[in-house]
Amino acid sequence: MDPGGPRVSQEIARTKPSRPCVEILLGLVTDRMLAGEAPRVLDFGAGRGADVRFLRSIGVQAKAYDPIHGPPKIPGGLFDLVSLIYVLNVVPRAERPQIMRQVAAKTAPGGLVLVAVRPADEVTRQAEASGWPVVEPGGYLPTGSTYQGAIPRAELVALGTAAGLRVVSLRSPAKMTAALFAKPAAR
Ligand SMILES: C[S@@+](CC[C@H](N)C(=O)[O-])C[C@H]1O[C@@H](n2cnc3c(N)ncnc32)[C@H](O)[C@@H]1O
Repeated sequence: MDPGGPRVSQEIARTKPSRPCVEILLGLVTDRMLAGEAPRVLDFGAGRGADVRFLRSIGVQAKAYDPIHGPPKIPGGLFDLVSLIYVLNVVPRAERPQIMRQVAAKTAPGGLVLVAVRPADEVTRQAEASGWPVVEPGGYLPTGSTYQGAIPRAELVALGTAAGLRVVSLRSPAKMTAALFAKPAAR
């Protein structure tokens, strides 16, 4: 079976900002604003834009890109903070390196990248309990839904470093594994 599976919405109907946005990104943004900066934020794989709307509502310059829900073109320019929230776990393993490279390419030198995915053990537990078909190692295709991947922490780190990013932190608070990466500053 094609690990890509059906390319339907791939999105949870979110009206409130995501947990990684509120619990991690918001702090990074406000730190910079309090320091007198005006950070440019790109939400890569923004879904229907709840995080971008929330950030804009507090005065942040935030842009969205989403190949399914739009805007369908990656915005021009570079960004101080790029978020990739609950995207890598809905795409098959083979597609993840290219997405990380695209994200790294949109990050300004010295900028930060926040990558959050569903915790691998949570996805695996749900897959086993629900009998989701396995389409590749650690990759499942829930009936009537889209691909779900269990991404180990080490894979997340490897994806970021392969894209030229440096790991700043890696943690697993409730409902997410979150890696923060930095793009090396230009010499
Ligand atoms: C589970 S949703 C998460 C949306 C949003 N970040 C959130 O947390 O509410 C996954 C999103 O990834 C997007 N997506 C799928 N493939 C992508 C790709 N190659 N590049 C960027 N986004 C992608 C989908 O269109 C979908 O909106």
